[in-house]
Amino acid sequence: MNIEDYILEHTDPESELLKELVRDAHVNLLRPRMMAGHLQGRTLKMFCRMMAPRRILEIGTYTGYATLCMAEGTDENTIIHTIEIDDEMETFMMKYFRRSPYMGKIKVHFGDAAEIIPRLNEVFDLVFIDAEKHQYVQYYNLVFPILRNGGVILADNTLWDGKVMSGASDKQTTGIATFNEMVRDDSRVEKILLPLRDGLTVIWKK
Ligand SMILES: C[S@@+](CC[C@H](N)C(=O)[O-])C[C@H]1O[C@@H](n2cnc3c(N)ncnc32)[C@H](O)[C@@H]1O
Repeated sequence: MNIEDYILEHTDPESELLKELVRDAHVNLLRPRMMAGHLQGRTLKMFCRMMAPRRILEIGTYTGYATLCMAEGTDENTIIHTIEIDDEMETFMMKYFRRSPYMGKIKVHFGDAAEIIPRLNEVFDLVFIDAEKHQYVQYYNLVFPILRNGGVILADNTLWDGKVMSGASDKQTTGIATFNEMVRDDSRVEKILLPLRDGLTVIWKK
């Protein structure tokens, strides 16, 4: 048994609905690797359990896998706003949102997060940044004013397959590297970069 299998064997399982979603995504979608997956999904749920956020913002819905994980960890008073630019994902994600017990707390917005975030009339407790990598700095600057003091931003893929250390000059890698430096130097927040999956930075607003 390898260490990843051992970790998952000692972590809560995914629900049957999430297992079905994952199988469906692997058969029918081009980039199933973009989904949070078992360990990160359980981690998102656990963060929600610990923080009890009332308002959550997810930037980048894709299949809705992570949305459903966060929904699982929250009670009926929580609203999750999730933004997805690709409206061709609507049928897929809605199939699973509707079959879950959480449809009532999920609000999906289709369009560019950079345009939608300024129109959201909410103050958020938790923000999960997981969309276009070269726009992370922009997302951060947009959500910061609407994140409450003591609120948390989770930023996914902050190790970007290790490429952030290699000095690669493509748009995605430089986007993540610039974001990582900006967060490191931002004295308004406390932060840790966790080596979970592809890197998950946890940022706490003072
Ligand atoms: C990594 S996937 C999200 C995965 C999902 N959060 C999960 O963990 O299951 C990134 C998604 O962001 C979407 N996206 C990319 N640019 C975007 C933008 N500017 N606004 C909103 N969504 C965007 C992509 O279409 C893609 O579906």
